[in-house]
Amino acid sequence: MSLAVQIRQPGGAEELHLVDVAVGEPGPGEIRIRHHAIGLNFIDVYHRTGLYPLNLPATIGMEAAGVVEAVGEGVTHLKVGDRAAYASQPPGAYCEARVMPAKCVCKLPDAISFETGAAMMLKGLTAQYLLKKTLPVEGLQPGDHVLFHAAAGGVGLIACQWAKVLGLQLIATAGTDAKCQLALANGAAHAINYATEDFAARVKEITAGQGVKVVYDSVGKDTWDKSLECLRPFGLMASFGNASGPVAPFAPGSLGAKGSLYVTRQTLFSHIATRESTQAMADDLFAVVASGRVKIHIDQRYPLAEVQQAHRDLEARKTTGSTILTL
Ligand SMILES: NC(=O)c1ccc[n+]([C@@H]2O[C@H](COP(=O)([O-])OP(=O)(O)OC[C@H]3O[C@@H](n4cnc5c(N)ncnc54)[C@H](OP(=O)(O)O)[C@@H]3O)[C@@H](O)[C@H]2O)c1
Repeated sequence: MSLAVQIRQPGGAEELHLVDVAVGEPGPGEIRIRHHAIGLNFIDVYHRTGLYPLNLPATIGMEAAGVVEAVGEGVTHLKVGDRAAYASQPPGAYCEARVMPAKCVCKLPDAISFETGAAMMLKGLTAQYLLKKTLPVEGLQPGDHVLFHAAAGGVGLIACQWAKVLGLQLIATAGTDAKCQLALANGAAHAINYATEDFAARVKEITAGQGVKVVYDSVGKDTWDKSLECLRPFGLMASFGNASGPVAPFAPGSLGAKGSLYVTRQTLFSHIATRESTQAMADDLFAVVASGRVKIHIDQRYPLAEVQQAHRDLEARKTTGSTILTL
């Protein structure tokens, strides 16, 4: 048996229920893992509210680290006793132990703790594919400006540091002055408080009227229109989330008028569709974290039983960096 957090119907944080569930044996291609720490992500909120619908009842959660307890037929990259971490479909990480597909589970290097593993897999692999694979037509070179919204959050703080490693001039946005300071302390070249400042005007100022090559936008509804104004001709609008609500339908013609812009809506799960691509991206993430050039900030910890409060704080924009659920 395992404690697990389930939703029976979409709704607020009060819909997160702690229940006992049976944990079976892994089938072909599966493992059973016992978690030591679980990562909290904004996608968990979308699953809970029904913005991303699930078959219910469901255990939610997409990210965790722990020890492999049993291995199903055909799994060759993991063995019983391995320390491991993952960002993975299907949801189900909010629990003590689970059976799950092995494909996206990676061995965790000894230098990386369970807590750090749980705090960085989904967010770090996202920062990896955004900065290294979600590129404008002419690519990104050291010195280029990019705009990254919600830069003091989980994905954001990793992206600030990794962008600096890549030599990019990352312009951060965040909702308070303290969060702006945090983004700057983590490698952002500039920071804009988008609650009090016109971020499009400030981006134009910082880039001497040129605009940025890429906008990485996970805020969605509230930032979409102004984000398009921040791009230079042929720039890339990389939408990857909807913390403020989904982006409204828009007219493709408007992209021409703003300088033949490109728009993409990215999701991590296309990038980690195979064992090989998952491992290659994870190796890149493990290397940059083990080198100390990207630090994983675990700014909040909640016992699994206090998951409702964790969700309330994330949605109320009270958190910074990564948040984990402890066991
Ligand atoms: N597509 C993908 O592959 C992928 C993968 C991972 C994450 N994501 C997305 O990336 C974003 C960041 O994820 P995360 O887990 O690291 O969360 P997070 O950034 O730690 O938290 C979300 C942040 O969004 C900002 N925000 C702006 N408007 C908001 C609103 N109306 N309500 C709540 N927050 C608002 C807040 O920062 P400020 O107070 O500074 O505005 C808040 O702290 C989320 O949108 C998530 O869905 C997408």
